[in-house]
Amino acid sequence: MALERTLSIIKPDATRRNLTGKINAVFEDAGLRIVAQKRIKLTEDQAKAFYAVHAERPFYGSLVSSMLSEPVVVQVLQGENAVARHREVMGATNPAQAADGTVRKLYAESIEANSVHGSDSLENAKNEIAFFFAETEIHA
Ligand code: TYD
Repeated sequence: MALERTLSIIKPDATRRNLTGKINAVFEDAGLRIVAQKRIKLTEDQAKAFYAVHAERPFYGSLVSSMLSEPVVVQVLQGENAVARHREVMGATNPAQAADGTVRKLYAESIEANSVHGSDSLENAKNEIAFFFAETEIHA
């Protein structure tokens, strides 16, 4: 087991419905500790850069605009195997396929408005954490 950090985003569909606390409770109950958190309004440049890996996908434009529609809560979660643990409790990308008890099964509205983002590898987690946070803003 390894102590890891991962980058989590509570997306606009969830902040709009005032679900930040309920989603954080799922994470904390799963053994993840919120070691940094801030509520921000993404700029278009930030949203485009963050999802640049999907730039050629048909859903990219819509995904970027949806991320700009309301504030998001960006957070660093720390715990044993945090990257995989977080992905597990987020649930499948498409809420129709998400397992019971996962954030996306509980709260997601659609494949795009799916309430949360989570880094998908330790390497991406490091880059995504650095995208939003200075080391001095993270307190374990
Ligand atoms: P992806 O990295 O495949 O999923 P995950 O968020 O589970 O790591 O996709 C990133 C986001 O892009 C996803 O959370 C929602 C959006 N998306 C769509 O809007 N339509 C799609 O068909 C897919 C695959 C993703």
